Amino acid sequence: MKKFAILTSGGDCPGLNAVIRAVVVRSAVHHAEVMGIRAGWRGLVFPDTMKLTRARVDTILNQGGTILGMSRFSPYHTPNGPERLMQNVKDWNLDAVIAVGGDGTLTLAKRLKDEYGLNVVGVPKTIDNDVAATDETFGFDTAVAIATEAIDRLRTTAEAHERVIVVEVMGRDAGWIAAAAGLAGGAELILVPERPAVLKDIINTVRRWHRMGRVSSLIVVAEGALVSETGAGPAENVLLNKQPDHMGRPRFGGVGAYLAKEIETACGVETRVTVLGHVQRGGTPTARDRVLATRLGSYAADLAGEGRFGTMAALRGTEIVGVTLEEAVGKKKHLDPRLYDVASSFFE
Ligand code: F6P
Repeated sequence: MKKFAILTSGGDCPGLNAVIRAVVVRSAVHHAEVMGIRAGWRGLVFPDTMKLTRARVDTILNQGGTILGMSRFSPYHTPNGPERLMQNVKDWNLDAVIAVGGDGTLTLAKRLKDEYGLNVVGVPKTIDNDVAATDETFGFDTAVAIATEAIDRLRTTAEAHERVIVVEVMGRDAGWIAAAAGLAGGAELILVPERPAVLKDIINTVRRWHRMGRVSSLIVVAEGALVSETGAGPAENVLLNKQPDHMGRPRFGGVGAYLAKEIETACGVETRVTVLGHVQRGGTPTARDRVLATRLGSYAADLAGEGRFGTMAALRGTEIVGVTLEEAVGKKKHLDPRLYDVASSFFE
């Protein structure tokens, strides 16, 4: 009997439990049992594990979050972290570690493979949809569905009060959620990091809308959208929150409030902001995310079973394939300009 371990690391997203279930079930085909590692890499450095049986995972497919818990812990940020991790892998007779995470997690997986020979297989997850080498990550579809529903709801209240409503969505420095939800919700304007905007142009647009009789509107702004005062200075949004997270990455948020205030002051129209925040990451995954997560989890078990380490399960077109971690990490998959162009062709 072989022994695999699975961990979920980084920020949670809907579909993680579907992956865990798929890995446990499919690993049986490879005569492997699966051990759950709690709280991401931390549980592999400071032993924190849980038994994963078929019975334990049978009912988790539709549950949000992760039964394993998450952390943004890096073994490299604790004394002898990688050495302790490798010792546990040896002591627990692990044949493979399946790491489910975004760019940070997958980067750590690659580094541990390169520097310590860890037998690791990756599964990409994030609502941001920004992992390279896969056409889509699970969690994204759910986040877009939640954001779209919110936009629909905000539209009726915007119309009732003849207001501008600015909706800030997540996505870090990629505009996937904003573009997809903005398109699906018929937003009058969508601001994304990939298309830096100038404040005075946005203000002029809102003024024009009012002149032409459009008294209510929805503006979707990605948390990482770049909005500069004049077009000459630095982008404003990241400057609003200088405190990085504990992985040293910038924290996003604040651009929606900034825009709403500027629009109201300059245009004299009532403007409100709604920040969707972690609502986008919670709750039950969509059917599409359950399917994608299950396919990726099953394939990751196959990669582990076949000893194809240093790889990641990925969606390419309609196929699930194995790609190298090398192909996946260290580069962002930014918003497809064609998606933004379709969405923006409805702007006036
Ligand atoms: O990467 C997923 C994500 O939800 C981003 O969209 C967001 O910027 C970030 O995580 C929030 O992180 P935290 O959960 O640590 O606040």
